[in-house]
Amino acid sequence: MSINVPRGTKDILPEEMFKWHALEELVRDTCRLYQYKEIRTPIFEHTELFTRGVGDTTDIVQKEMYTFTDRGDRSLTLRPEGTASVVRSYVENKLFGLPNQPIKLYYMGPMFRYERQQAGRYRQFVQFGIEAIGSKDPAIDAEVMALAMKVYEKAGLKKVKLVINSLGDTESRQAHRDALIAHFEPHIQEFCSDCQNRLEKNPLRILDCKRDRENPLMNTAPKLPDYLNEESAGYFEKVKHYLEVLKIGYEVDPNLVRGLDYYNHTAFEIMSEGEGFGAITTLAGGGRYNGLVEDLGGPEAPGIGFAMSMERLFLALEAEGKSFDNQESLDMYIVSMGDSAKDKALSFVSELREHNMSVEMDFLDRKVKSQMKSADRLQAKYVVVIGDTELETGKVALKNLSTGAQKEMTFEEIVENVEQLKLSWQEELA
Ligand code: HAM
Repeated sequence: MSINVPRGTKDILPEEMFKWHALEELVRDTCRLYQYKEIRTPIFEHTELFTRGVGDTTDIVQKEMYTFTDRGDRSLTLRPEGTASVVRSYVENKLFGLPNQPIKLYYMGPMFRYERQQAGRYRQFVQFGIEAIGSKDPAIDAEVMALAMKVYEKAGLKKVKLVINSLGDTESRQAHRDALIAHFEPHIQEFCSDCQNRLEKNPLRILDCKRDRENPLMNTAPKLPDYLNEESAGYFEKVKHYLEVLKIGYEVDPNLVRGLDYYNHTAFEIMSEGEGFGAITTLAGGGRYNGLVEDLGGPEAPGIGFAMSMERLFLALEAEGKSFDNQESLDMYIVSMGDSAKDKALSFVSELREHNMSVEMDFLDRKVKSQMKSADRLQAKYVVVIGDTELETGKVALKNLSTGAQKEMTFEEIVENVEQLKLSWQEELA
């Protein structure tokens, strides 16, 4: 009996790896321009980090975590998201003490959530995320959103929309919370058991409920923006102002609440409006989390960040009929006939690789014709055939597979002109 991948996970096969590499490079480049530095934290953490950080009434903590007990009887959890881990590391490694503040970090890696599998929703998925910790300047909120939008723009996506809201500070949230309880309490029996539990613990979560989405009380529920105190409203105005300075279009959605507990003030999501993108249109989500660093044992250090799933970016690209270029094709294929030619092929391949050329040869003792087919299939830029004559004369015919042009050269000449060969190939294609 064969064994398949677990539900909600998938293999990324070599043939699609080029787009992952391209996106990873795009992300690293963009983060370099915006001065975000990479951080890598463990894939598993103490469970408590997420119950405290993400919040024990959230869907993530209540239903979606891969939690296990290790042999030392500790409760560990495969990370469902990156923010809690980054903040833990920030506190543990005292990054708040470094001279350059705010600390601007990014990460890329797998996250794990036990969710119902559907297009765009997986149990293991790769998030790219950034966190800027140590500043409550609304301009950095705008920068964080700008970086996310820049990644989509560079990837070639056109149909994306930035949606923002303000969740306000503690005082505003408390006022809104009281209003929500008053609104839902008389009718709470109409709601699912989760919502009934949420009423006292975290009524904001009710607005996020997938099951009760259609209940008319959802639409008439008190809206956060109406409960923002002066300071919070002023902060939100400045965030919008800086988005305008950066010429980033946005929509305000007063119903946007986000599914994690650490948020306050700015909350945002980026949606795909590509046709055929499917039911889940959220590409990225993020927001401000002033207070989280303190909750996890650090000093006062306000933060903001976002995360996006790389898989959903690829889906959105497909929905817009676009893709990354495959830049990872082969420079040269060496075809050989006979044992002596094979010796030469082996050493020539190795020499060219020393000179930074990607080169392939036959390892199945195939006839020339099928070696040529391989060269074609691998989309080699050049092909060289080595047989007895070539060994005697020391000259080979270098063939450009895309133009069909052919040139006689010695082995040494090829090596000497490696850079030129790569260049002229690109020019011919352009
Ligand atoms: P989140 O909204 O839970 O926020 O997730 C962010 C993004 O991760 C989503 O917009 C989506 O692209 C992707 N994502 C989430 N769950 C899945 C899934 N099951 N399958 C595929 N993709 C998924 C966070 O994780 C926060 N840590 C973001 C943040 C960073 N806030 C501040 N800093």
